[in-house]
Amino acid sequence: MSLKNTRDRWGGVSQAFHWLIVLMILGLAIVGLTMGELPRTPKYFWVYTAHKSMGISVLVLMLARLGWRLYAGAPVPVAGTPRWQAAVASATHWALYALALAMPLSGWLYDSASGLRPFRYFGLFDMPKLSGPNEWLAERARDAHELLFWVLVLLVAVHAGAAFYHHLFRRDETLARMLPARKVRPAPHPETDHVA
Ligand code: HEM
Ligand code: HEM
Repeated sequence: MSLKNTRDRWGGVSQAFHWLIVLMILGLAIVGLTMGELPRTPKYFWVYTAHKSMGISVLVLMLARLGWRLYAGAPVPVAGTPRWQAAVASATHWALYALALAMPLSGWLYDSASGLRPFRYFGLFDMPKLSGPNEWLAERARDAHELLFWVLVLLVAVHAGAAFYHHLFRRDETLARMLPARKVRPAPHPETDHVA
C-alpha cells in the first residue's frame, strides 16, 4: 500500500489520520460527557486538562490532515456508485472536516472566554487564550460545543452507516479501501469502462 492516495484506495497517511482521529474523538466524547459528574477532587482538574489537551491535538491533526488531503487528493468513487451518492459522500466528508475543526475551536473559545487560568497542554506549556473573559461569549461557545457535538454524532452515524451498508449489502470496496492490507479491485477507468 502506498503512502499517498491512489485512484483505487486511500493511502497509509490518510488511513492513519482517519482511524487515529476516530479513536481520539471517541475518547473525547466519552470523557466530555462524563467529566462533569466527577467529584471535585484534584483529579477533576486533571481530567478536564486531559480533555482540553487531547482536543487541541485533534485540532492540530485535523489541520495537518486537511493539508494532506488537499495535496494527495482522493480516490475516484467506487465502481457503480451513482453520481448523486458520490456527491453526498463528498459533501459529508467536507462537513466532517468542518465539524472536527469547529469542535476543538469552540471548546478552546469556551475555555478562553471563561476567564480561567490558561490550561497547560498536557502539563507542558500554557495555551494562549483566544479572547479575554466574557461571560456572554463563554455561554455561546459552550452551547456551540455541545450542539456541534450532536450534529457530529448524527453525521458520523450516517457516514459510518453508509460505509457498513456498502460493505455488507453492496459488497463493494468502500470500506476495504480505507483499511490496510486488503487488495482492492481497481477503480474503473473513465475512458475504457462505463460507470453507472
Ligand atoms: C474534537 C475535539 C472535542 C470533542 C469531540 C469534545 C467533546 C466534548 C463533549 C461531548 C462534551 C460534553 C458536552 C456537554 O454535554 O455539555 C465536552 C465538554 C467540554 N469540552 Fe470538549 N471536546 C473537544 C475539544 C475540546 C477542547 C479543545 C476544549 C478546550 C480547550 C474542550 C473543553 C471542554 C469543556 C470545558 C467542556 C465542559 C463543558 C461544560 O462545562 O458544560 N473540548 N466536550
Ligand atoms: C466507525 C466510524 C467510521 C467509519 C466506519 C468510517 C468509514 C469511512 C470510510 C470507509 C471512508 C472512505 C469513504 C470513501 O472511500 O468514499 C471514510 C472517509 C472519511 N471519513 Fe470516516 N468513518 C468513521 C468515522 C469518521 C469520523 C468520526 C470522522 C470525523 C472526523 C470521519 C471523517 C471522514 C472523512 C473526512 C473522510 C474522507 C477521507 C479523508 O479526507 O480523510 N469518519 N470513512
